[in-house]
Amino acid sequence: EADLESKLPLKGKKILITAGPTYEAIDPVRFIGNHSSGKMGFDIANAAANLGAQVVLVSGPTHYKAKNPSIEVINIMSAQEMYDACHKHFDDSDAAIAAAAVADYKPKEVALQKIKKNASEFSIELEKTKDILSSLGAIKKNQFLIGFALETENEIENAKLKIQKKNLDLIVLNSLQDEGAGFKKETNKVTFIDKNFNIEPMELKSKEFVAVDILNKVISHFLKS
Ligand code: CTP
Ligand code: CA
Repeated sequence: EADLESKLPLKGKKILITAGPTYEAIDPVRFIGNHSSGKMGFDIANAAANLGAQVVLVSGPTHYKAKNPSIEVINIMSAQEMYDACHKHFDDSDAAIAAAAVADYKPKEVALQKIKKNASEFSIELEKTKDILSSLGAIKKNQFLIGFALETENEIENAKLKIQKKNLDLIVLNSLQDEGAGFKKETNKVTFIDKNFNIEPMELKSKEFVAVDILNKVISHFLKS
């Protein structure tokens, strides 16, 4: 019994995870998206479920499938749909991990018919999407809240600003500087920064092991609280 407990340190904990890109519709056949594969979020979800957590995975379009059958996958397209699904599940979650690459902007109006080519130039007016992670940070009670940050300059400073702005407990800073890291890669080089601004650079490793590192942070938080 005790042995099983130690192998399932996240048993009894509900963890909400976001993954993948979002697609913001332009018209019935076109969208604004990005190259996020969803792998990081799916790896976190699988590792969390293997550690005993009840996992709700809210995912944008991706070809990844959840390996652990206990994972509840909610497939969404747009940032608004991801926002709605997250808010449905955040209240009774114990932790939330935002690994999704949410579109920052969406077309202000979605055309009901396929847009025909006419003039030589064409432009779309964009408006901001809702910041899902910020909205969770604004209402969080005891939830341990983890965000990601992708920066190309002033990495540490910008990541610290995101911790404060979004009311996070921990941020996982992706270093694009590093050759093996990033969107379409199997590996990731991350730096952890906690809400007290303790900085912990990690080695370049596969996303599966980055996922384990992240969940170790969650486990040690629950052991302390
Ligand atoms: N995020 C989110 N909702 C958004 C945008 C971002 O939940 N509309 C989350 C991401 O999942 C990530 C974190 O916020 O965990 C940081 O995303 P990032 O794109 O690095 O930061 P932004 O706040 O969007 O700022 P910018 O893109 O200008 O750096
Ligand atoms: Ca962004």
